[in-house]
Amino acid sequence: MTILFKFCATPPNLSQTQWIGPAGAHPLRQAAHTASKLALALAYREFSLLSPRTELHDYAQSDEASNHEWWLANREHLLEEANFYCLKKSPDTLISRAHTDQMTVGAVAELGLGVRSIGIDIEDEKRVLKPELAKIFLSSADQAQSLSLLEIWSAKEAIYKALSSFLLHHQLPVSKPLTLKDIELTERQNLAGQFRFKDFEGLYLGQKININNRNYLVFTASLFA
Ligand SMILES: CC(C)(COP(=O)(O)OP(=O)(O)OC[C@H]1O[C@@H](n2cnc3c(N)ncnc32)[C@H](O)[C@@H]1OP(=O)(O)O)[C@@H](O)C(=O)NCCC(=O)NCCS
Repeated sequence: MTILFKFCATPPNLSQTQWIGPAGAHPLRQAAHTASKLALALAYREFSLLSPRTELHDYAQSDEASNHEWWLANREHLLEEANFYCLKKSPDTLISRAHTDQMTVGAVAELGLGVRSIGIDIEDEKRVLKPELAKIFLSSADQAQSLSLLEIWSAKEAIYKALSSFLLHHQLPVSKPLTLKDIELTERQNLAGQFRFKDFEGLYLGQKININNRNYLVFTASLFA
């Protein structure tokens, strides 16, 4: 199972009139949204080479599909998302996006092959989490002792997205609200391991990535089928 992800700096090289974020949103939010959608488009373009998908695949592989045209394609709703979970026009293509102030990331993966949902998170490695926040997201059952607070936070944010988008998409209720504290982590090796939330299980994987001389933490999560 591979989660393919691509980055796009915020703001992308677009004018404000080209931003596609929610109407009335703060300019930074607009820029982050647009950049992460562009990152998603770039990830999808590469993904579609590996795993062809009819209409979108044909578009992705056409000679004229430059990065900018991919952004336009999104405007035309080719890359519209359903419930933060998959592409509307390609429901077998799982997706997830995340942003920091300066960098965004978009991820895609194929439904099946043992996976039924994915999530991604990106954090600037310099971000300092308030220790008191630990009370809110650390579970006493977490066994990922070698992860830092920020790493656990980021892993759980990615896992939250995989779980929440899956539950939302399939309209599945949970008996109490899904919170980061209810997700339990076990560590297998450095920055990677297994998670559990009620009857759900899956894998998380963290990577340290340097882009434009800044260090970022990127965590992905996949929910087992
Ligand atoms: C949903 C959530 C994970 C988003 O994280 P964030 O820090 O606001 O922002 P990120 O940059 O990491 O991700 C934003 C993207 O997540 C995606 N997203 C939003 N809600 C989502 C959901 N319910 N499921 C999956 N993905 C979601 C969207 O693509 C969004 O991008 P957009 O705003 O451009 O559309 C976060 O707001 C959240 O609710 N976290 C868990 C809350 C929790 O348990 N809190 C208790 C401890 S404080």
